[in-house]
This record gives sequence, structure tokens and C-alpha cells, in this order.
Amino acid sequence: MRVLITGCAGFIGSNLADRLLRKGHSVVGVDNLSYGLASQIPEGVEFHNMDIRDPALSSACSGVDVVFHLAAKNCITDCQQDPVETADINVTGSANVFQAAHETGVGKVVYAESSALYEGSTVLPTPESEEAPESFYALSKQAERLFALGFEQAHGLPMTALRYFCVYGPRQDYRRTIPPVMSAFIMKLLQGEAPIIYGTGEKRRDFVHVDDVNDFHELCMHRGPTDGNAFNVGSGVNYSIRDIYQHISNLLGVDIPPQHEPDFPEEAQETLADITLAKSVGWAPRVSLVEGLKTMEAFIRERVLAS
Ligand SMILES: NC(=O)c1ccc[n+]([C@@H]2O[C@H](COP(=O)([O-])OP(=O)(O)OC[C@H]3O[C@@H](n4cnc5c(N)ncnc54)[C@H](O)[C@@H]3O)[C@@H](O)[C@H]2O)c1
Repeated sequence: MRVLITGCAGFIGSNLADRLLRKGHSVVGVDNLSYGLASQIPEGVEFHNMDIRDPALSSACSGVDVVFHLAAKNCITDCQQDPVETADINVTGSANVFQAAHETGVGKVVYAESSALYEGSTVLPTPESEEAPESFYALSKQAERLFALGFEQAHGLPMTALRYFCVYGPRQDYRRTIPPVMSAFIMKLLQGEAPIIYGTGEKRRDFVHVDDVNDFHELCMHRGPTDGNAFNVGSGVNYSIRDIYQHISNLLGVDIPPQHEPDFPEEAQETLADITLAKSVGWAPRVSLVEGLKTMEAFIRERVLAS
């Protein structure tokens, strides 16, 4: 198949591009490199350095069978500070991607939502029906969904929404001021420094490995039961931040006590995906936490710290 990935220089997009190229598909990549790294785009990707809001986006869609739309403004704190740009990229930009897909006769669009849609819900494990967005980031993802439904209704363009929980694996972002916990812990501990735990470490998160996420992406490439639906993509199991710290310390064979700093009170205390719907279409997570952490450790040791 010929596949277009927006956000192909980012964490999930570059892993997906790698997987699809290995499987013999041809991959077109779009990214404006506002956050992703050119060095992360796998060799073999037909790359367009382009903004998803660019009216010329349809030129990149020519002959494409499936679009994976992953590009987004996605740091919740940044989105909170700039709701106008958040809407511009995540809503207007997404509508432009859907329009380009429609104009060029793309067969299907798979796009990224987020477990942030459940941030106001207290139901655990959380099913897809529990939407309760609060932050501008989550609201922009919900608005993107409404536009996707509009394109489905108006033009019969098949769409699948994937609501990722905390995705981890090689290339997970390690450059943000406050990086995701796993990257932050591994980076610091490998350098013999004490990582920061915000709050008590009792917060629990549903972590899902990027290889499992890519299994779902592959499933969605083919027309069928995923068309027209939104799916939770989590592991259905959660761990406290303190558990994660212990697992990583054991893996690295180190015993460095963490520093503690005040928590972010606006963040959910617990996330846990109800993955019944995802399992009903034949998907199941298969990477164990320990195996998944090993893939991250190897990447950070060999590709980040070594350079
Ligand atoms: N990583 C997670 O745990 C997670 C969880 C839930 C949802 N998501 C969603 O999954 C998608 C991919 O996330 P990721 O972790 O790979 O993020 P990432 O930041 O690593 O990648 C996003 C990419 O989009 C690009 N981009 C941003 N704005 C753009 C624009 N206007 N035009 C073109 N390119 C643009 C960036 O340069 C970057 O390479 C996002 O939509 C995100 O909201 C991710």
C-alpha cells in the first residue's frame, strides 16, 4: 500500500514509518519539523517538509491508500497557554488533512485522539463512551473527531480514531522540559543522577508500547470493523509512577533515591483503558512492561547518550 503519515518525524510517526517500510509498503511523510527531528525520519520515506495547514497538502496525498494523521500540537501545558494555535493546528490542520484525503480519493484515514478525552471522568477502566475533555488539548481532539465524523457523513470517507493512552518505546520524547516519566527516569539514572517524581508517586498510568500501537495501526489499514469507530489503545493495566521507578531501577541495576517536587494537581490521579472494543476487532497488547522498558533503555543508551 501507499501510506501517508503526518507527524512522521515524531515519536509514534517515525516508529510507524519504520514498521510499514519493513513490511514493504511505500511511505509518504509530512512534518513541518516544528518539534520532530529530521534525523528520526527513516530512510526510504518520501518526505515533505510541510505544515498540515498548507493548502497544497493534497499534492502529498496523490495515489495514497491510507492516511495516518498523527501531527499535532500535543504538549498539554503548551496547549493550555495557546488555545488559538492549538485549535489552528489540531482542528483546522486536521480538517485540511481530511479535505486533502477526500479530494485525492484516499481510501481511509486513521487519526490520533487521546486518553486526555477522559480527563474529567472517574470511571475506571474507562470505556470509549466516557468522553469528558477539560483541557484545550483534549477539546481540540474532540473537535477533530467532530470534523472527522462530518467528513465521514458528507463524503463517505472511512475514518478510525485511536485514543492512545501513555505510549512508550524507542524515540519517546526526552527533550521536553518535563519529559514523560519513563524517558526522564532512564535518562537521569543512566547518568547517575536522581530523577524527579512529582508528588508522591502514587499516580497510576496505563502505559502501552509503541509496537503494540503499531499492531493496531496495521489492523486499521484494511477496511472492515475498525471503520467509523473510536478505540482505546492502552494496555488495560496500570502502574504507579513509583512502580515504574522501581522497575527501571531494577532493570538498570541502580539504587538512587528520587527527588520529590510538588505535583500537578490538574492531572488525573489514574488512567486505565477499557480495551474491550479493541479486543473485539482482534487486537491485544503483547509487549510486557519489562520487555518494553528494555527497548527504551537500549535506545537511550545507544542513540541518545552515546551522541
Ligand atoms: N505519545 C503519546 O503518549 C500520545 C498519547 C495520546 C495521544 N497522542 C497523539 O499521537 C500523535 C503523535 O504523538 P507523538 O507522541 O508521536 O508526538 P510527537 O510530538 O513526537 O510528534 C508529532 C509530530 O507532529 C509534527 N507537527 C506538529 N505540528 C505540525 C504541523 N502544524 N504540521 C506538520 N507537522 C506538525 C511535529 O514536528 C512532530 O514531529 C499526536 O496527535 C498526539 O496528540 C500521543
